Order: sequence, then C-alpha cells, then structure tokens
Amino acid sequence: MSAQPAENIRLRPALENLPVYVPGKPSADDGVRRFKVSSNESSFPPIPAVREAVIASLDEMHLYPDAAGTALREALGGSHGVEHSQIALANGSVTVTADLVRALAGEGDEVVYAWRSFEAYPLLVGSHGATPVPVPLSSTGEHDLEAMASAITDRTRLVLLCTPNNPTGPSLSTEQVEDFLAQVPDHVVVAIDEAYREFHDPATVLGTAGIFRRHGNVVLLRTFSKLQGLAGLRLGYAVAHPRLAQALGQVAIPFGASRPAQVAALASLRPEAQEELERRVAWVRSERSRVLGALTAQGWELPDSQGNFVYFPMGEQTAEFAEFADARGLVLRAYGVEGVRATIAEQEANDLLIEIAGAWRER
Ligand SMILES: Cc1ncc(COP(=O)(O)O)c(C=O)c1O
Repeated sequence: MSAQPAENIRLRPALENLPVYVPGKPSADDGVRRFKVSSNESSFPPIPAVREAVIASLDEMHLYPDAAGTALREALGGSHGVEHSQIALANGSVTVTADLVRALAGEGDEVVYAWRSFEAYPLLVGSHGATPVPVPLSSTGEHDLEAMASAITDRTRLVLLCTPNNPTGPSLSTEQVEDFLAQVPDHVVVAIDEAYREFHDPATVLGTAGIFRRHGNVVLLRTFSKLQGLAGLRLGYAVAHPRLAQALGQVAIPFGASRPAQVAALASLRPEAQEELERRVAWVRSERSRVLGALTAQGWELPDSQGNFVYFPMGEQTAEFAEFADARGLVLRAYGVEGVRATIAEQEANDLLIEIAGAWRER
C-alpha cells in the first residue's frame, strides 16, 4: 500500500517553523565499543528493590493506574512540606513543563527562558502556539538574569529557570533567584526546573523550599529520570501553589503516570533506596570534580558544572570534537556551533573522556 501525500491536511501554523526534538545520539552499530554519554542518563543499574517493585506491578498491567497517583503524591507532598493536592504528576518533567505551558500561555503569549538550555523548551512553547523568548546565556554559560528580567513584557506568562542549567552546568544561587523574582510581576509564573538538583554541591544548593513558600508565582519542576535512574519509565512532577496545581490537573493527559512508574518512584523514596542514591550521588559529584580537575589541568576552561555532566564550549569546532570523540569510543551530545556535553558516567567512560580531551589538545 503506497503512502498518501495528504498535502491538504491543515496543520496548525504554529508547527511551520518548529524544530523537532533531537535526543542524545545513540551509539553507532559498527562493532566499535562506545560509551553513550549523550543523554545525561544514570550509569548505574536499577536499584534491586525498585526493580522488584516494578516487576510486581506488572501483574496489574491490564488495569489503569491510579489516575490521581495518590500514594506517590502523598509521599512527595510530605517530602516537600505541601499538601498532596499541590503535586502534579506526569510522564516525565518534560510533560509537566508542557502542561504548564498549556495552562498558562496561548497564542501570542510569551515564555521567557535562557538559551541554550533544555532542548525541549522551544518545542513545548512553540507547539502550543505561544511565543518563545530565548535570552542568551552569559559567556560563562550562566543565566543572564538581568536580560531575562528585561525580556518580560505584558505578554509574558511564564519564565523557565533551569538550575543547574542543561547543557552548560552552572546553577543559580538563592540570592540571584530572589533578586530576579523581585523584578517579576506576580501574575507571571516562574518555573524552577531542577532536574539535576541532587547532583549540586549540597552546601550551596538553591534554597528552593523557602523560595517556593515566599512566592505564590513560583512552581518547581522535578524528575525521577536522572539520579533515581527512571528515565525509561517516565515520571516527573511539579510542586505548585493550589490555583496552579488545580490548573495543571485540568490540562494533564489522564493516566500519564503509569503504574510501574508510580511504583518505582515510590520505591525509590524508601529509606534503603535513598541510602543507595546518596552513595551514588556522592560518587557522581566526586567523579565530576575529578574530571573537571583533570580537564582544567589540561588547559580547558569549562563552565562550573553542578549537574551530572560537563560542557565544552567548542564553538565552530563542536561537530569536529564530537566526531573525534565518537571515533575513540565516546558518544557525546553536540549542540550546533556552540558546544559539546558529556555525561559523567562509569569511571571507564570518564577516564576515556579525559584521555580524548587531552588528545584533542595535543593533536
Ligand atoms: C533541564 C531538564 N529538565 C527536564 C528534563 C526532562 O526530564 P524527564 O525525563 O523527567 O522528562 C530534562 C531531561 O534531560 C532536563 O535536562
């Protein structure tokens, strides 16, 4: 059967100039052993108790999950010190972010975010018909909060702050965020996307809980995809004040969070799993500082990453550097003519990154 051209279908004009999401490059299937460090996934295997909980949940795969996700929302509400009704669940924080855009911004409304940042932001904003307002990062890969505050207009409905910023890595301090919020009208929602929060140096991590309590227009976005390693099961959530939480419930696609995902998230909140996650995160932090230290010693000047990744601002040499690494067994994430991101993964992959970066400088 031949495919029909279907040229008369009337797509929404908003899709005309919309880019398509580019996921981390998979490893080529050419017999060369490679480490895929292009998607900021966890390099650890599933925690046994979490895996067992997921397997047990499969006996009920013929049933819809709890649409309200009550047990998980109660647990998350408890850990954030909010009512469970203030937790909005979805299949990944990317979906919660889409729900946020759908709840707040229609045709002609503006959404301000730093750029470059999480690849999906322009798609989520543009596909819902709102206008993306990307504000360039500083030369050190940080949010330019002054420029972001100046970019807010009467049409702005939402500002996305990504801290630590993917892909560059620097984070925002409590003082910076408070100063910024003081300049944002209280009808504009500010979402703080902390997908990589756990990897941050705990001594200086953003005081998100206090910021949330102090500001009715702040919403928090979190994921189980990174440290908790549930990227393949898809579970993310927002912590929102009641009015926005209700709106997120209205726009959410029903049954977004599957039973295995809910069960896995709950199991990973239990004390035994938390202890293991603490060990893992401490290891990732120490590997990140080992890698950054070694790269600095080679002469690289990289942004101060607080995520589970490091970023090379390669400019015009971005594609060449990514190919250089690929040929030597490391699949990196290349961003146009801007830079290359490498996930902190197993030690062997991190050692290879150091070796490849050194070889690049000496070539
Ligand atoms: C900053 C940021 N936010 C959100 C996400 C999406 O996470 P999830 O897997 O929960 O959709 C990612 C994933 O890479 C991310 O980098």
